[in-house]
Amino acid sequence: MVDALLLLAGCGTTRRSADIDHGHRLATVMGCTSCHGAKLDGHLFEEDPQFALAWSSNLSRILPRWSDRQIEQVLRSGRRPDGSALWFMPTFAQRQLSGDDLRDLIAWLRTVPPSGTDHPPIRRGPMFAVAMEHGFQDSAAQAEQLKARQPVVLDDRFRQGRYLATIACAECHGPELSGPRDPRPGDPPDLSIAAAYTPGEFAHLLTTGINRNGQPAGDMAQEARKRLSSLTRQEMAAIQAYLVARAAAPGNGATPRVQ
Ligand code: HEC
Ligand code: HEC
Repeated sequence: MVDALLLLAGCGTTRRSADIDHGHRLATVMGCTSCHGAKLDGHLFEEDPQFALAWSSNLSRILPRWSDRQIEQVLRSGRRPDGSALWFMPTFAQRQLSGDDLRDLIAWLRTVPPSGTDHPPIRRGPMFAVAMEHGFQDSAAQAEQLKARQPVVLDDRFRQGRYLATIACAECHGPELSGPRDPRPGDPPDLSIAAAYTPGEFAHLLTTGINRNGQPAGDMAQEARKRLSSLTRQEMAAIQAYLVARAAAPGNGATPRVQ
């Protein structure tokens, strides 16, 4: 018994459990647990028979069949080990995850016990082909296409904020954080808008989903509570510092604000 405990201590248990917690936080902030569920058992994710019926995969049952290397390749490429491409996965943002963060994420994914059942593959409706003609792509093709489009690089002081915005915000706010080209009401805006927020208001938005006018921020509100509230205050401040500097940087890729 004593030997076993010593052995565990020798394996660096403290460090390992710290990594797992960080991995869990990454899975939360990056939306793995929103889209795949807290138990990673997946569910009907897209429920529009005209467009598609798509289930988020039951990761709790699939991942134990794959090596760490295979999981890494899927997250970086948007393709399963059998070569088939994934749909709806924000691979273009996930592939930017650092090696250390990816290791922590996988360490946490490995702690989740198998539950539930496997889900059927995506079923395409008649509008699926139409959407593809209008640019809808699988995750692998999208990641490849967006490869060169990244948030503007500023100096080292803003490195952490840029990195976090890439993995936590780009999925919705776009590869350059500029939002869609022709935004409609309710679309994620260019994140230059962060410059209009005080640090307190910004942290409040990311924690509660309530914007600086005291209103729930549309589709962002729920995701903020589920995902972004797991960012630390230091991380929120780093993200805002980067976004404010980016808004002021020339050639920053930000959409000019209409005055
Ligand atoms: C926007 C929602 C969304 C987010 C965020 C998301 N996923 Fe997915 N993921 C999906 C959907 C939907 C599928 C099923 C794709 C398909 O069937 O083509 C999927 C499939 C997968 C697969 C392939 C499993 C298989 O063989 O079917 C893996 C692995 C995976 N996700 C891991 C993750 C991890 C890890 C994260 C967080 C870093 C994550 N996902 C975040 C929606 C999401
Ligand atoms: C799951 C999608 C999603 C993610 C992830 C996301 N956002 Fe948003 N965000 C939105 C949408 C949609 C809106 C527009 C809401 C509206 O106006 O109806 C928005 C709006 C905003 C606004 C403007 C709020 C206002 O009304 O003044 C800010 C600021 C913002 N997001 C910051 C962020 C930051 C910073 C991150 C990353 C840490 C982030 N968002 C991640 C979807 C998202």
